Amino acid sequence: MSASLEKLMEEGRRAVLRPLPEASTLPPAFYTSPEIFEAERTRVFRRNWVSVGRASEIPKAGDRFRIDIAGEPLLIVRGRDGEVRALSAVCRHRWMLLGEGAESSATISCPYHKWTYALDGSLMGAPLMEKAEGFDRAECALPSFPCEVWNGFVFVNLSGDAVPLAQSLAPLAEEFVPWKMDEMEIVGRIELDQTYNWKVLTDNFMEAYHHFAIHPETFEPDYPAAISYCDPAEGPYAVLRMPHKDNELSHPLFKPLDGIPEFARRGFSVFNIYPSMLMAVLSDSVIWYRMEIAGIDRFKLTVYLLAHPASTDVPDAETLKHFLREATVAVHMEDLPACEGVQKGLQSGVVRAGRLSHLEGAIHAHQKWLVGELERP
Ligand code: FES
Ligand SMILES: [Fe+2]
Repeated sequence: MSASLEKLMEEGRRAVLRPLPEASTLPPAFYTSPEIFEAERTRVFRRNWVSVGRASEIPKAGDRFRIDIAGEPLLIVRGRDGEVRALSAVCRHRWMLLGEGAESSATISCPYHKWTYALDGSLMGAPLMEKAEGFDRAECALPSFPCEVWNGFVFVNLSGDAVPLAQSLAPLAEEFVPWKMDEMEIVGRIELDQTYNWKVLTDNFMEAYHHFAIHPETFEPDYPAAISYCDPAEGPYAVLRMPHKDNELSHPLFKPLDGIPEFARRGFSVFNIYPSMLMAVLSDSVIWYRMEIAGIDRFKLTVYLLAHPASTDVPDAETLKHFLREATVAVHMEDLPACEGVQKGLQSGVVRAGRLSHLEGAIHAHQKWLVGELERP
């Protein structure tokens, strides 16, 4: 670790490694320093499980989609054996990107010189290579990365040494059982290019303190800031609960499945599965914010709206799905000026770590985890 990074880490430890009533946010440099961003790429995003999509997006053998994790180009492919794999999306010949805009196909073909790979990444064909001495196709397979499907979400771990998801997320899996998320369908998908640091969004998503200011009409009347609270989490994630005011029932759009617990029908919860998987779990649906981080101040945000087919089996389902999409965009448009304003504020020459409210425990928990990960050998 360089001396300047070590100094930043020391400032970070001093700000966050203390009880919430005494804690501050991470110093602003954690949102703006290229050195921190590089450390996040290598130490946080490469070493942990990162959610990349829904298994239902690639239902058949040969279906695929492209995504980057921490700048690593990946092709997520369904194999002939039905397995979902995370392959390197970089050709073994001269590094052309594979799978850009690819439709489903029985092979993976490089657009540059047509080397062709099987769905498990092995090289099948390489035209006009017969004069290359000792050319061994077996040495030219696309590297693959550990890939797991958990509750229907596809996760990838680039370093290959993360603890299995089923183990690290066991307490969460137990809470999620009644939602049957692995059977949920995508009822909406919204793509947005965002121009601020990814942690500005995780911070925003994981506190309801701003409800009375930013969402005075959408959230505050039913889910007031003051009664939100952060549950202590037993794994690599944070949980924020937003009870309905006066403990009333929330108004679901669709039909909640049998077995959804009472507390989830009288409010909703949001989760940050570290590093950055943001989910709002409602009684009848799940809203997932997938971030594809492209730089220190930009990422592609894909908002997935998920619901179980039994929940959406209601009259007027299409109208309700449309309403859910509109409402989700409307709420994000309320948050957006705050996120962009924070990003601008972070560039100030006099900015410093800010003190946290008791309502910001989930931010505090995430930032403590982040400091730990940045320093983990
Ligand atoms: S770069 Fe892929 S075949 Fe040449
Ligand atoms: Fe918000």
